[in-house]
Amino acid sequence: MDVVVVYETHFGQTRAVALEVAEGARSAGAAVSVVTVDAASPDLVAGADLLVVGAPTHAEGMSRPRTRGWAHPQTVGTHGDVGDGVREWLHGVPASGAGQRAAAFDTRLPFAMAGGAARGVARALRAHGFALAVEPEGFVVVDIDGPLQKGELARARSWGAALVRAAAAPATP
Ligand SMILES: Cc1cc2nc3c(=O)[nH]c(=O)nc-3n(C[C@H](O)[C@H](O)[C@H](O)COP(=O)(O)O)c2cc1C
Repeated sequence: MDVVVVYETHFGQTRAVALEVAEGARSAGAAVSVVTVDAASPDLVAGADLLVVGAPTHAEGMSRPRTRGWAHPQTVGTHGDVGDGVREWLHGVPASGAGQRAAAFDTRLPFAMAGGAARGVARALRAHGFALAVEPEGFVVVDIDGPLQKGELARARSWGAALVRAAAAPATP
């Protein structure tokens, strides 16, 4: 199974989760590419049996140009734009081919009201025709710039392995 893990990160936490998810998927027998949104071309996505998309939670959802500016005030000013995030990248995702599966995860703060980006990512993937292999998942950071809560990297690795097993099962509508 070919798996492509696409992520956005500002402090490295979503990347750390993406790398563990990839390791977990490899341990379950998949061939895995891990790329940032900048490097995730439509061709790469089209070749994936399972597309996994990870995003940091900003303002209870996916980042926007302004929230990315807030994450990088030193470099771009508090209202500056910082490249594209998962939200913009999802607009260019090619419609799913037959049998393509997908999964979404986010990183988020440990508060019940903190929301999560993964649900919106999953909704967009479904709108592009992907069948979700599993429910959206959140991984918890202790503070805005990390680190991840104890145990989250191990949980990410297990989730990656479970994803591959779930994606190998027939899709349910
Ligand atoms: C502008 C901004 C807004 C944020 N808003 C939320 C939020 O609403 N809920 C939440 O759980 N975390 C929020 N966070 C914390 C992010 O989830 C955290 O920075 C992210 O998980 C770190 O991942 P990264 O290093 O991959 O960017 C916010 C962070 C920034 C910079």
